[in-house]
Amino acid sequence: MLTPLIKEILSLPAESQDLTVKGWVRTKRELKNLIFVEVNDGSSFDSIQCTFDRGSDGNAGLSPSVQAILSTLSTGSSVAIQGRLVPSPASGQNVEIAAYDLERIGEAPAETYPLQKKRHSLEFLREIAHLRARTNTFGAVARVRSRLAFGVHEFFQNRGFRYVHTPIITANDAEGAGAMFQVTTLNLESLAASGKAPDYHNDFFGKQSYLTVSGQLEAETYAAALSRVYTFGPAFRAENSNTTRHLAEFWMIEPEMAFADLKDNMLLAEDFLKFLFTLVLQDCPEDIAFFDAHIEKGIITALRSVVDCRFAHITYTDAVKELEKQAAVFEFKPFWGCDLQSEHEKFLTEKVAGGPVIVTDYPKAIKAFYMKLNEDEKTVRAMDVLVPRLGEIIGGSQREENLARLEKRMLELGMNAEDYSWYLDLRRYGTAPHAGFGMGFERLIQYVTGMANIRDVIPYPRAVGQAEF
Ligand code: 4AD
Ligand code: MG
Repeated sequence: MLTPLIKEILSLPAESQDLTVKGWVRTKRELKNLIFVEVNDGSSFDSIQCTFDRGSDGNAGLSPSVQAILSTLSTGSSVAIQGRLVPSPASGQNVEIAAYDLERIGEAPAETYPLQKKRHSLEFLREIAHLRARTNTFGAVARVRSRLAFGVHEFFQNRGFRYVHTPIITANDAEGAGAMFQVTTLNLESLAASGKAPDYHNDFFGKQSYLTVSGQLEAETYAAALSRVYTFGPAFRAENSNTTRHLAEFWMIEPEMAFADLKDNMLLAEDFLKFLFTLVLQDCPEDIAFFDAHIEKGIITALRSVVDCRFAHITYTDAVKELEKQAAVFEFKPFWGCDLQSEHEKFLTEKVAGGPVIVTDYPKAIKAFYMKLNEDEKTVRAMDVLVPRLGEIIGGSQREENLARLEKRMLELGMNAEDYSWYLDLRRYGTAPHAGFGMGFERLIQYVTGMANIRDVIPYPRAVGQAEF
């Protein structure tokens, strides 16, 4: 049988049963005849209190070996504690362990163990990312992340979407932004030494290949067969941007629907976010309460209000008009045709909409080649979902399903249509209106936890100059 988790033990009725608790020591406190050891195993936010009673006449209540271990027991040690589950007189917990035996499984010498009882800065914890999951903050982030990952599958599976695994290595630049990591088995050092240019015909795949920036193009091919699909996997961007919202490796969720337009896409995105916020409030209450108290005050109210509100809609053109009225407050002056900066996005959601807002119909020049052209021939059926504090959480569009127009756009952008002939086949054979979006999973976790830096919501962040662990 598996060792019972502290989460399970904490929910048992206090019927004086004997059991063993295993986990890592958070704190040890002494009070007259009592020694309290808080043990946490990460299964829940809450630790279990184990109370050792020395007895009234000296140490009569505990064996010499238990006393010896207790006297040197330090934060971070792993232990097995035997005792009786009893009602707890302390507030904030129903049960505790009246402990009578203790085994130290692994020590954690206080002189060298980096995680002490005091509060550590997030910057410091990033340097010891292999230990940070043992803190309240990172334990909570990890549990929320796991619950929401499962929630993503629940949401789509319950709505008839099939999970598709799209390739991680690819030869095409789905977003056309050129920010890709090359994958090669060519010997770059000997090439450099010989002064020869690489011949990619001799490379592993026979052509230049990369880590994917998005599974969208392949997801579209499956939507053109299974109607509703979604992906959930890693994406890679070699953008040289050192911000609190960008990672070089992040996880993205990309639903794609056949026989759907931009309106359907906007509704799906709104339902999706509301579903996930409701879920996390329901299923991770202790973790979210911790974020509310220590990371971002008011986050619970904010999440609830998003669930209850209707998302605002605004076109890019109207959004720029709003921004131009306040041009003085921005570092980057807004104008029609500009890419919205994160300061613009935050202004739109926080000051103009006062909540989530979906911006639609962006200029074609600042969006990817596959988006459906509007009648004005200047804008495309794009949508970005912006939320307070964060800005863009979702980006998507209705796709160009007309072969001639898509080919024209690719030509304008200097793309090689031959490379994308498989993608164009979707427009040649049984084409249909379709739409989808991408949500950065880490942006979602940032939003629901209030964590300011995206590097603190993924176990091992990869960013410019950072591939440690
Ligand atoms: O807006 P993006 O670039 O859109 C796409 O990749 C489309 N193929 C999506 C689609 O229509 N299927 O990225 C989508 C989302 C962004 O809104 C953002 O949440 C996240 O992915 N994202 C990043 N997250 C972390 N680090 C980065 N460098 C990110 N780049 C995008
Ligand atoms: Mg985007």
